[in-house]
Amino acid sequence: MFSVTLSRYFGMPDVLLTSSGSAAIIVALKANEIPQGSEVIIPASCCPIVLFTLQLAGYKPVLADVEVATLNCSAANIAARLNDKTGAILAVHGYGGPCDIEAIMQLGKLHGVTVIEDACLAYGGMLNGIPLGGIADTTVLSFGYDKPIAFGYGGAVLFRDQGAATRALAYLNENTLLRFCQHQDVSVLHELFLQLPEFTQQRLENILLVKQTINTPLFSHPEAQPDTPFWRYPLLMTIDRRDDFINYARQREMVFTTHYQSLGALMTMSDVDNADFIAKRVINLFVRAETRPQQLLDMIDIVNEYRYES
Ligand SMILES: Cc1ncc(COP(=O)(O)O)c(C=O)c1O
Repeated sequence: MFSVTLSRYFGMPDVLLTSSGSAAIIVALKANEIPQGSEVIIPASCCPIVLFTLQLAGYKPVLADVEVATLNCSAANIAARLNDKTGAILAVHGYGGPCDIEAIMQLGKLHGVTVIEDACLAYGGMLNGIPLGGIADTTVLSFGYDKPIAFGYGGAVLFRDQGAATRALAYLNENTLLRFCQHQDVSVLHELFLQLPEFTQQRLENILLVKQTINTPLFSHPEAQPDTPFWRYPLLMTIDRRDDFINYARQREMVFTTHYQSLGALMTMSDVDNADFIAKRVINLFVRAETRPQQLLDMIDIVNEYRYES
């Protein structure tokens, strides 16, 4: 059974399948009895779906700024957003690389705030020998579009605490739209998941190639452990010319995505300078296992060959 495979891989006793990663986030909050209306701290640079999900579920997303070097949220930035309305911290492994999860969990413990680990983009990777998605007491995964296992549908919420798992099951029984749909072929997803180690290895090889061959001073690499299986490999332009670069690439018939926009841009008021800076400078390279080697080589050439008129 797929949930047993997930439970074993992540070392989490209870696993419930959901319709998506967003659904998994809602179930995770409900299972941990986070009251509606409370604040949930999220990184200011991540998928906007995370922010919209919290708003739709009646929570107040609060943005913690990220670090420019790692593109991830630090415990210190999260600490600066804690107050007596904080219900939970969503510790997102941004861009597929581990966030400062251990320090964030300590912070949560110190202040009595639930930490939910979001490994939607990061599972397959490890931190100190523990699979990402198996570190906090409640964690969420996605199997949607362009995720480490890209089934195009589904997610999962994983629990270490049986009480939370029981509450999650009761919630899912009442909110059937959040449940994994019985018409989806879970055996296909299961088969795909069993290939996660090979997919991750290929992703790491693609990333190594990018790291070894992109050597222009116009782009900087993220700071990360060598075995970080980035989602789409993020490079930051060292000069403010991203539109020019994107146009140049387009002329060479190559599309570079620019994830993520700053979530600050979606809020009425925000104070997340690093996320705003990243939003103007980032480009992504496709490094997933399915990327054709020639496509990756072409992307690398375009980055290395880009010049600008000053
Ligand atoms: C970090 C993160 N969490 C959660 C989600 C939501 O997952 P889903 O698209 O399956 O709802 C996403 C989506 O891209 C994501 O990047």
